[in-house]
Amino acid sequence: MPIRHPERRTERLWLRQWRDADLEPLAEMDADPDVMRYIGDGSPGTREQTAAALGRVRAAWDERGYGLFAAEDIATGELIGWVGLAVPAFLPEIMPAVEIGWRLRRRSWGRGHATEAAREVLAFAFDEVGLDHVVSVCHVDNHASTRVMTKLGLKFDRTTRVPAHGQPVHVMRLSREDHHREHRGDGG
Ligand SMILES: CC(C)(COP(=O)(O)OP(=O)(O)OC[C@H]1O[C@@H](n2cnc3c(N)ncnc32)[C@H](O)[C@@H]1OP(=O)(O)O)[C@@H](O)C(=O)NCCC(=O)NCCS
Repeated sequence: MPIRHPERRTERLWLRQWRDADLEPLAEMDADPDVMRYIGDGSPGTREQTAAALGRVRAAWDERGYGLFAAEDIATGELIGWVGLAVPAFLPEIMPAVEIGWRLRRRSWGRGHATEAAREVLAFAFDEVGLDHVVSVCHVDNHASTRVMTKLGLKFDRTTRVPAHGQPVHVMRLSREDHHREHRGDGG
């Protein structure tokens, strides 16, 4: 299986591969209770947890040829978080599946960055990885994330609970056909 490490650009963001120096801003983001409020059981992450997660993220790219992109603000050169694809093994009932997800540092919220990056990741998922559909999963109270999913054209699939911690989540879904139809803008 080929190991691919693609990078993509949007108007304001560079979706790139990971560097060791990304650990610092990533750990800062994961330590913020506002950022982690709807992730897992809602606990902020320690530096050790973030370092382990970053290792897994880099390994996933090698194994699968897709993964979470580091999102860098082109104007400032700062890492603002990540947007990308992962396997939602934490929710066995929807497997097999590939999930699109996002996490940005608090001071970068509210500028459309997540949606801008995720549009590019959807094009990558359907046109380069060749997926038939993607899902996205978020806590039922995470209205910002739900709104991003809706803006991207994902449709409600189900509400369920994550076995590991019992939190209620919405599952949303988008097929390649629906994505391409929406992209062409013919509405039908
Ligand atoms: C979810 C997240 C990535 C969104 O990033 P962002 O760059 O601010 O998202 P965008 O600006 O592209 O879009 C956010 C949308 O949600 C809306 N929104 C924000 N907070 C909201 C709230 N509390 N209730 C309803 N809508 C809300 C915004 O108005 C915007 O919609 P609009 O364009 O129609 O106005 C960011 O909030 C984040 O990192 N949160 C913490 C991590 C997280 O929860 N990740 C998702 C786990 S499933």
